[in-house]
Amino acid sequence: MCGIFGYIGNKNSIKECLQGLKLLEYRGYDSAGIATIQDAKILSFKSPGKLIELEKKINIFKDLKFDLAIGHTRWATHGSPTLANAHPHFDEKLKLAIVHNGIIENYASIRKKLLSKNILFRSETDTEVMAQLISYYYANDLLKAFDKAIKELTGSYAIALIHANHPDEIVASSKESPIVIGFDDNKDEIIISSDPNAFLGRNLNILFLKNNEIAHIKNKKINIYDKNLKIIHKKTERLNSKNISFSKNGFEHYLLKEIYEQPLTIQKAFLGRIQLKSGEVEFEDFNLPKSFLKKFKHIIITACGTSYHAGLCASNFFQKYLKINCSVEIASEMRFKDLNLTKDTLIIAISQSGETADTLSAIRKAKENNCHILSIVNVKNSTIARESDSSIFLKAGPEISVCSTKAFTSQITVLYLLAIYFARSRNLLEKKDAQIFLKELKKIPNIIKKILKKRKEIEKIAQKYAIYNSFFFLGRNLMYPTAMEAALKLKEISYIDANAYPAGEMKHGPLALISEKLPIVGFCLNEKTYDKMLSNLMEAKARSAPILAIASKKSYGIEDIADDIIWVDKVIDDLAIFPATIVGQLLAYFIAIIKKTDIDQPRNLAKSVTVE
Ligand code: AGP
Repeated sequence: MCGIFGYIGNKNSIKECLQGLKLLEYRGYDSAGIATIQDAKILSFKSPGKLIELEKKINIFKDLKFDLAIGHTRWATHGSPTLANAHPHFDEKLKLAIVHNGIIENYASIRKKLLSKNILFRSETDTEVMAQLISYYYANDLLKAFDKAIKELTGSYAIALIHANHPDEIVASSKESPIVIGFDDNKDEIIISSDPNAFLGRNLNILFLKNNEIAHIKNKKINIYDKNLKIIHKKTERLNSKNISFSKNGFEHYLLKEIYEQPLTIQKAFLGRIQLKSGEVEFEDFNLPKSFLKKFKHIIITACGTSYHAGLCASNFFQKYLKINCSVEIASEMRFKDLNLTKDTLIIAISQSGETADTLSAIRKAKENNCHILSIVNVKNSTIARESDSSIFLKAGPEISVCSTKAFTSQITVLYLLAIYFARSRNLLEKKDAQIFLKELKKIPNIIKKILKKRKEIEKIAQKYAIYNSFFFLGRNLMYPTAMEAALKLKEISYIDANAYPAGEMKHGPLALISEKLPIVGFCLNEKTYDKMLSNLMEAKARSAPILAIASKKSYGIEDIADDIIWVDKVIDDLAIFPATIVGQLLAYFIAIIKKTDIDQPRNLAKSVTVE
């Protein structure tokens, strides 16, 4: 989950590189660096910490004109986030600079081989090993040395490099880690990036490198080579994003802006896909074979983090509406599990970024077993979307904050639409029942708007509960994965030990932890399990736990139990996820404000986890 960027063009390459890294910083922000070439020498700038630290170092050079530059923003895998381990990395002669995203699995053995040749290393990273290896093979032909070296590597890499003897060239290659190349029609600017987010604000032709392909950029030409160093033709696509830019629109953090975007993003997720008159759902570009849609026998959902929680919610929908077995696998576990994967299995991969390595590995394993892959992503050209048989786009717009919010509620929306789509196509859901549900779903944006107006009330409650160092988030039925998602929000942006549990499970052990120092957040919006939920909260209250309940105005009895209640409008059980989640997001946000954490870029995390 690092971000690499390269620029050759008619503008200031240092400035362009900084701008590109800003758009990639969500992929990792432990350190950053840029390298260029001046008077046949590598000129580089590196800094631990965020990009702003690097910018301060570069200031004096920002207005000098360099023809090319490569840059990197790092999420540490090998070696701590220090200056020495920051990219770019160099060969011992300082003639070559390289930036890398991925993990080289055999770097230790290569390092040992090079050390035996008395080559001096400056860092403990796997990336420096690549730089030294390419330099070791270099004999005035950069492309050949590069090709020979990467053939020795095992693991994953997206790399870009420059060499002081070749001041107008950039070489790049990718294996299991994405690289996309963008260029204008005249090739006045050619850009290399880990993902298309770095191209936002430009209209470009783009092409994606496949595994083991090499890109050689020189004199406004882009040559792509296959693993036999034969030039190949690549299909290009058009990315028009001149009018898209990242801005907080006046909010203090991207996170709050994205929380407040949800009434709109949920509408965008169902716009044009709901046909109320017929009670049907339609997806554009949905090209799973109709024959398969009629006959797949079970569904496996695979995802990570917040997307995994969306999958847990969705498994209820598919089992309820489709009467079909649906399991949910944590992607990093799925790859190593003995699952019954057959051609009658539909794999649904959920990923906001579409770049999560664990999820990518899970779908690759499923494809080896002839499963059909349907991905639900928020980035159209993402690797997961491109490796799926079909994908459904969230249309939520770029989600910048590492903490996922609008993507989650859009995922839930799309997954519900998908369940209705499958159920209607198999005549398992009557038209009128579908119409009733879809009408309720269309009310959700307004329900959310009302909760967003409770900001001050929730902020006040957050101030009261911010003193605690641990929380339990409890729920039953659909409120349990909802509680998991709310706990993750608090964990990742406030660094508080927040755990979710099925409310009925507390008495089987975790109740031992309960005391006046460990508050319970109880999601009481599921009518089917409401009474049981009250009993579970009573058990915690009897042991002095502070109780914060999220309940709907029509609930009874909760006032005698909870110390604080956040009231929301009543919705049908299936849709209670939405109001409950918005409350959980705002609660986490306002507690994090009090904790003064780095809300949009929490410590140790990255937005797109592209390593396993
Ligand atoms: C969510 O707030 C986290 N940032 C994280 O759990 C995230 O959901 C997970 O890494 C999966 O990302 P993806 O949806 O892009 O695959």
